[in-house]
Amino acid sequence: MTTDIENTADRPVDRPIRVGLVGAGLIARQHLTAMRRVPELLAVGIASRTRAKAEALAAEFGLGQVCDNPEELVRQARPDALMVLVSPQAVAQVAVQCLDFGLPLFLEKPVGLSVAEAEEAARIAGEKGVLNMVGFNRRHYSIFQKGLRKVLERGRLLSVQVEGSERMAVARGTGRFTEEVLRAWVFANATHPIDLLRHFGGEPEEVCAFATSLHEPLGDQFVACLRFPGGVLGSFTGNWHSPGGWAVVLKGEGVTAEFRPLETCRLTYADGTTEVLEPDADDAAVKPGFTGQLRAFAGLVRTGVLAPPSQDLAGALATMRLAGQFIAPVRPLS
Ligand SMILES: NC(=O)c1ccc[n+]([C@@H]2O[C@H](COP(=O)([O-])OP(=O)(O)OC[C@H]3O[C@@H](n4cnc5c(N)ncnc54)[C@H](OP(=O)(O)O)[C@@H]3O)[C@@H](O)[C@H]2O)c1
Repeated sequence: MTTDIENTADRPVDRPIRVGLVGAGLIARQHLTAMRRVPELLAVGIASRTRAKAEALAAEFGLGQVCDNPEELVRQARPDALMVLVSPQAVAQVAVQCLDFGLPLFLEKPVGLSVAEAEEAARIAGEKGVLNMVGFNRRHYSIFQKGLRKVLERGRLLSVQVEGSERMAVARGTGRFTEEVLRAWVFANATHPIDLLRHFGGEPEEVCAFATSLHEPLGDQFVACLRFPGGVLGSFTGNWHSPGGWAVVLKGEGVTAEFRPLETCRLTYADGTTEVLEPDADDAAVKPGFTGQLRAFAGLVRTGVLAPPSQDLAGALATMRLAGQFIAPVRPLS
């Protein structure tokens, strides 16, 4: 997925990229921590809803400007790029607001709680020609790159199996999420594992999905089978009220790579031998995938091109649409 812009005059080429953050929660802290390992990016200011939280992060990470809204942030901190790191229900709305500035945008997922919201954000970004990237950080896991390489060393990728179980009771119990976010959990959170189907398999050519609902109106029991380009097969399961978690299994020729949990990789070969892979130092030190996606964002700002495996709003929309296909056939459990 690539995005190009015509105007290259203002791109910072030989100095750190000045970044402004919108949102001062848990994930903003993770990005700021990861940014310490990415010298191409320099956080210069932050705006959020509750000023005290923005002030606390600014003091901790040495940000020069604390602002009350994105307009003020752009005016006072003069960033080259913005990161939208607000609550799930607010990302699409704040993103649309920030697209007006014309600055390259990094957006946390989800870019909306519905396919329609994601379509609107992608449409406006396209019309305005704004460079953008959506934070599907799992795509940047070093352990995925290493595991996939091992599979491809032996031949073709044959099958991609994704297990996307959510801990719905835990999510509801935290009190951190609004009812609209919990209701749209398939977009708000389950898009992380759903996106991994596209990451490993490409754009599915055929999807056959079933969904039932134990408690969640849009579904909480999912099974889907997919056919990807080249005949690679895929499967997705999600059982949101049963113990389990996120996992990926890649089947190759004489090799199986199992990422369970996602941050680990165990390879099993046809002769019965096994091998355990370790992530890169960056992924071991900070939230996995975060330095990789920040470097990719820096590359986008400097060159105007978003390199794979990153996703822009159009890519995020494709993942949202796939999630929409998974919930479309939902029926209540009898
Ligand atoms: N990639 C990942 O693995 C990952 C993991 C977790 C979360 N996320 C995503 O990251 C985003 C933030 O999550 P979080 O855990 O950091 O949430 P959080 O701790 O609740 O923080 C959200 C922040 O955004 C602020 N905010 C909310 N609405 C706003 C608005 N309209 N304008 C300006 N600021 C606003 C909040 O202000 P207040 O302080 O007033 O509440 C808070 O500072 C979410 O979209 C989530 O889906 C991604």
